[in-house]
Amino acid sequence: MKLTSVVGALGASSLLLSGVGAIELDITSPDSIKQAAKALSMTLRAFYTGDRVGDTPGNLPDPYFWWEAGAMFNAFIDYWYYTGDDRYNAITVQAMEHQIGDYNAFMPPNQTKTLGNDDQAFWGMAAMSAAENKLPDLGNGKPSWLSLAQAVFNTQKDRWDNASCGGGLRWQIFTFNNGYNYKNTISNGCFFNVAARLYKYLGNQTYADWAEKAWEWELSVGLMSPDYHYFDGTDSLQNCSNIQAIQWTYNAGVHMAGAAAMWNVTQDQLWRGRLEGIIKGAGVFFNNNVMIEVACENNGKCNTDQRSFKAYLARWMGYTAIVAPWTRELIDPLLKTSAQAAAKQCIGGANQTSCGLRWVDNGKFDGSIGVGEQMAGLEIVQALLYPTVGGPATAKAGGISISNPDAGANAPQSAITFNTVTTGDKAGASILTLLVLVTILVGAWWMVS
Ligand SMILES: *[C@@H]1O[C@H](CO)[C@@H](O)[C@H](O)[C@H]1NC(C)=O
Ligand SMILES: *[C@@H]1O[C@H](CO)[C@@H](O)[C@H](O)[C@H]1NC(C)=O
Ligand SMILES: *[C@@H]1O[C@H](CO)[C@@H](O)[C@H](O)[C@H]1NC(C)=O
Ligand SMILES: *[C@@H]1O[C@H](CO)[C@@H](O)[C@H](O)[C@H]1NC(C)=O
Ligand SMILES: *[C@@H]1O[C@H](CO)[C@@H](O)[C@H](O)[C@H]1NC(C)=O
Ligand SMILES: *[C@@H]1O[C@H](CO)[C@@H](O)[C@H](O)[C@H]1NC(C)=O
Repeated sequence: MKLTSVVGALGASSLLLSGVGAIELDITSPDSIKQAAKALSMTLRAFYTGDRVGDTPGNLPDPYFWWEAGAMFNAFIDYWYYTGDDRYNAITVQAMEHQIGDYNAFMPPNQTKTLGNDDQAFWGMAAMSAAENKLPDLGNGKPSWLSLAQAVFNTQKDRWDNASCGGGLRWQIFTFNNGYNYKNTISNGCFFNVAARLYKYLGNQTYADWAEKAWEWELSVGLMSPDYHYFDGTDSLQNCSNIQAIQWTYNAGVHMAGAAAMWNVTQDQLWRGRLEGIIKGAGVFFNNNVMIEVACENNGKCNTDQRSFKAYLARWMGYTAIVAPWTRELIDPLLKTSAQAAAKQCIGGANQTSCGLRWVDNGKFDGSIGVGEQMAGLEIVQALLYPTVGGPATAKAGGISISNPDAGANAPQSAITFNTVTTGDKAGASILTLLVLVTILVGAWWMVS
């Protein structure tokens, strides 16, 4: 036996002797869940550097894209809401204020070269959560959380594109970005989610009409199947006749929460059936009730973005269980078993609180550490607290965020050209997109083979 192996063996046995990792989780005890969520959240927060002097508030360091930072601040807002622990509120507010952008619509110029409707919406959904959870507005003439979500909705409804495919949102906002011809499910799903939650918050029928329109369109081109499976996207240059059939957890989740909001307001059998269908359709993402990113975990090909997707299905399962209580008997087994499996393997890193990617290996830590893995671990654990909270506020029930139905007006639409984008930038973006598409194709191949 080589010396390194002996050291390795000693290291492994001392880990065993010290018992389990730092995450103790008793799912029957809210205090235990809060302690576990706190430990997981601290390790997530350790990735963030944007609040340091000379860094940019709202940005995560490489390799994390801007949208994932927005998703992370949404996780911190929900953490505060579920646990009452406000330790991340200051960095969250600082980050969101800094990233508001020129049109008060989360379109900061630094992101123009890669800004997708989905990227913008992940920040918009964080603002929506801030309004729903009653995080005080910024004040001082700054836009309210609710108006930021309305601005995202307003800018996106104006981008609704019926020149091809009978409608839909494109992935990219600007014509010069590659991916402009791709109409993807997450962009349309986020728009649906924001519209449905604005409808729940404000009761304005315009939002419900757009939620219904996005839903119908996705069904019409086949981004959503009649049995509630969601596929990645489709090419507008082929009039959306070819579907990239890869399935991701977050597409099911983003629609689940939107459908739950629509049911909550309407209590309509139509939305009840749709919501139940989505929850059952999401069964493809569970092995013995443990969540798995089935398209890329088994083949080891999840990229940085994809490593975070389970976080959003977990987040939106919690939201759904709150606002549509009859779903609890369907969601509870999935949520509880997944949270226990996730927490069991969050034993990596310096503090033995870092989560790996895979939850389905009975507590085995797979060594994959990152923002996405950590956020997913945090979200599935904190969602267990859903029975302890009152649920999202509305304008008529406790809401304190100020409405501005015209927010986001004057934002540029897709036709605009930015002279500042150089050929080098464009080439860079093309290569990036090409890599993304290759990844999607490789992923899709794994799905069907
Ligand atoms: C580990 O714990 C220390 C002390 O609480 C903390 O400062 C550090 O950020 C933690 N690191 C990680 C990766 O969790
Ligand atoms: C844009 O980038 C500059 C230079 O890195 C930075 O100073 C600024 O804070 C960034 N703005 C936003 C909104 O990220
Ligand atoms: C495209 O959709 C918008 C919004 O629904 C509608 O107002 C407009 O008339 C449509 N345009 C065409 C050409 O169908
Ligand atoms: C494009 O797709 C839409 C929606 O599926 C359909 O209504 C329209 O007829 C198609 N147009 C062409 C030219 O095939
Ligand atoms: C709708 O959601 C609210 C929380 O936002 C909840 O209090 C209410 O009970 C839900 N309505 C129904 C019919 O379940
Ligand atoms: C409802 O929302 C639409 C779209 O934002 C807006 O134009 C309209 O003024 C709103 N109506 C009310 C009564 O607030």
